Amino acid sequence: MSANVVWHHATVTRQMRQQQNQHPSVIIWFTGLSGSGKSTLAHALEEALYQRGCRTFVMDGDNVRHGLCQDLGFSEADRRENIRRVGEVAKLMLEAGVIVLTAFISPFREDRARVRGLVPHGEFLEVYCEASVAVCEARDVKGLYKRARNGEVANFTGISAPYETPDNPDLVINTASCSVAEGVASLLQLLTERAVISSVTTS
Ligand code: ADX
Repeated sequence: MSANVVWHHATVTRQMRQQQNQHPSVIIWFTGLSGSGKSTLAHALEEALYQRGCRTFVMDGDNVRHGLCQDLGFSEADRRENIRRVGEVAKLMLEAGVIVLTAFISPFREDRARVRGLVPHGEFLEVYCEASVAVCEARDVKGLYKRARNGEVANFTGISAPYETPDNPDLVINTASCSVAEGVASLLQLLTERAVISSVTTS
């Protein structure tokens, strides 16, 4: 804990930012195996929201690990720290009035629950991108499953490291059985139900 640090209150508040943006801010937290479609869905949803004039930002595991989290690997402790940092940044973005979309494997229930607990009730929406190891391995977009099977990548989620499926996610998207457009439609429906956007039919 930092000593001798006093919180400075902003005069431009989250409420004012949300009013200017004409929508509330929220964290949409995508979780699932590598190759399960988290980034694809997050970016596709962001495009749809951008078209509606929403303020959005996607934080993505592969990108964040080039900067903010470049010192972290894939041990359990490093993944926990990765998610802790991302959660704190997402919380700041929430204050900034942004709809934050995060795409991290985030394999541990406890870590995801901790991020949920950082923000007010209802402002963290957990979206489980459901796809089996077999499906993700068949896709193997980055060739990492093959390398993990060959023993070239250690602690690989789903093969040599665990993934804890969400107990009670806000939304499950089975990316093996639905298209990106169908996934985005389900997400827009969820955001309508949670009063983040007003309706899926108007733009
Ligand atoms: S997390 O577990 O800490 O949430 P994160 O989402 O940031 O992971 O990074 C996952 C991405 O890193 C994968 O999509 C993959 O491209 C790459 N990666 C490299 N090594 C591993 C590994 N051992 N396990 C999982 N993903 C890995």
